[in-house]
Amino acid sequence: MRLFSSLHDRVVGGPSILAANFARLAEEVRKAEDGGAELVHFDAMDNQFVPNLTIGPLVAASLVPETNLPVDAHLMVQNPDNLIPAFLDAGVASISVQPEAVTHLHRTLSLIRDGGAEAGVALNPTTPPEFIEWALPYLDFVLVMSVNPGFGGQTFIPQMVEKIRRLREMTDLPIEVDGGITAETAPLVVEAGAQVLIAGSAVYKGDPATEMRRIIEAGRQAALQSR
Ligand code: DX5
Ligand code: ZN
Repeated sequence: MRLFSSLHDRVVGGPSILAANFARLAEEVRKAEDGGAELVHFDAMDNQFVPNLTIGPLVAASLVPETNLPVDAHLMVQNPDNLIPAFLDAGVASISVQPEAVTHLHRTLSLIRDGGAEAGVALNPTTPPEFIEWALPYLDFVLVMSVNPGFGGQTFIPQMVEKIRRLREMTDLPIEVDGGITAETAPLVVEAGAQVLIAGSAVYKGDPATEMRRIIEAGRQAALQSR
């Protein structure tokens, strides 16, 4: 499933399962799918690059056959190259790495693409878009972190809207946004050029299908008005 490469100008959304009940993961994902989710965002954290510790390729391998949606792995880890083969074997559709944690980014992105997944970079809030300018030919999408990676439920950093706008001027690659996305912030990032909306706490704080649908609709409405 090549979601990012076949988006064109569509706005889509997906749940970040960090905010889900991990004991009922597949069910939690299905609830968001009922609300129109088109991907599942899977946060791997290592207590090194970020202070938190979450899930890895074993959980991804269990989730992939249980969902119809492409699984989008976001690796907030040092040395992602060590984990990428296992995530590819697990069948994830896309993998983003944090370029701040990678020494040989070209090699890392090639590893992802050669394994048949779409490749992305996730930029910390203060990492400039120019940092990845020379990586653009090896990317299928760019993920803008609109909070500091590591935890769900943080407040959206408003300056990231300008950063998305800058990235949009640099590239036609799809821009994904992660962190503090709600029905209120989704229109701001879509208006600036983002197309893939990831939301964790805003989806799982209530009925996931209803909340997911609200966020996607808010983003699509903004796209209609601004394009
Ligand atoms: C943060 C993670 C996000 C997180 C978003 O490090 O990458 O995916 O789950 O959570 P919310 O939507 O609650 O900000
Ligand atoms: Zn994430």
